[in-house]
Formats: sequence, structure tokens, C-alpha cells
Amino acid sequence: MLADLSRVLFHESTILSRLDEMSHQITWDYRDKELTVVAVLNGSFVFLGDLLRRIPIPLHVDCLSVSSYSGHRSTGVVTFDQTSMPEIAGRHVLVLDDILDGGFTLHAVRERLLQLQPASLKIGVLLRKNRPREMPVEADYVGFDIADEFVVGYGLDFMEHYRNLPLIGVLSEEVIQQGMDALKNKPAPGAPVAP
Ligand code: IMP
Ligand code: MG
Repeated sequence: MLADLSRVLFHESTILSRLDEMSHQITWDYRDKELTVVAVLNGSFVFLGDLLRRIPIPLHVDCLSVSSYSGHRSTGVVTFDQTSMPEIAGRHVLVLDDILDGGFTLHAVRERLLQLQPASLKIGVLLRKNRPREMPVEADYVGFDIADEFVVGYGLDFMEHYRNLPLIGVLSEEVIQQGMDALKNKPAPGAPVAP
């Protein structure tokens, strides 16, 4: 998997030290509140586990399964895959996601959760891409600001691969191109299979 990266951005030790800092800030900000963390799956699961184990205050955890990506581009169409939404009325909610990119996902998640009337709603992301947002949404807690490049590892995937890499790296253009070509040549669901 490492050979598919054009370079490593953050080793595990760097990520964990940053999570120490983020978790101190979050612990302090929610010290006298009832915190409910709502994690956006799948990309946030590693970040979620490492961050939450560093926050020593009582909290609830709920997960949302949301997708907007196809290959390495956001489609802009955000799909909620679960049938019921978390019970967050009157709760102080912190939404956690792996990365803020175009903003489609977190904008849609925020709008949907605000309808449920939480007492407050903040957003925390491990990574924030330096590019104009397509939708108006910002993060309150950010691990690292990165350039507008496609990254994988530490929960982030490319076509469901690389989530288990313990570090974060930039995926090489060549691998992205190969993946996109494979996607293009894949028969549409339900299409007849050649004998
Ligand atoms: P947005 O909706 O355009 O902000 O995209 C956010 C979602 O797309 C994130 O939750 C990720 O799942 C995915 N995503 C965006 N950029 C990357 C990337 O560089 N690598 C892997 N996944 C990404
Ligand atoms: Mg995601």
C-alpha cells in the first residue's frame, strides 16, 4: 500500500500528538455539558477511536452512515444510509468527520441534525482541504490543514482501499488514474455479463 503513495503527509505519531491537543481543547470546551458525538462513517472510524479515548468526560456516541464520493471526486449528492437518526434534541452535539473537502457532506449533515433541535452543534475534522467550499460550512476543530490533494490512510479510502494504513499520505496520480479507468470499464449494475 505504501508504494501507491507519492508521499507521506503525517506519520501516526504526528497524528496522535495532534489528537492530544485537539482532545484537550474539546474536553475543556465540553467540561460542564452533556456531549453527544455524532460520527460520520466510514471515513472517521479511526480518528473517532483515537480521539474519543483521549476525552475523559462522559459522552454519548452515535454514528451516521453518509456517502457523497465516487472514486476520487465528490458527487455533490449526499446519501444518508440509515433509517433512523440519532436522538439529539437538547444535546450538545459534536459532529466528527475525517475531512472537510467541498463541504457537501458536512453541510448536509449539519442541516439534517439541526432539524432535530440540538442545544448546540459543532464540527470537528481531522483534515481540512485548502480549497473553496462548494457549500457554506466550516469546522470548529481541525487537526491539520492540507493542500488540495487526494489523501488516503488512517480511515480515508480510495475506492474502499487504504483505510487501514496507519499514516496519511497523498495517493499517486497513476494509482488514481488506474482506479478511475477500472471504474469506467466496470459494467453497470444489472448489465448482461459477457459469456
Ligand atoms: P465533501 O462532501 O466534498 O466535503 O467531501 C467529504 C467526504 O469526501 C469526506 O467525508 C471523505 O469521505 C471524502 N473525501 C474528501 N476528500 C478526500 C480525500 O482526499 N481522500 C479520501 N476521501 C476524501
Ligand atoms: Mg467520509
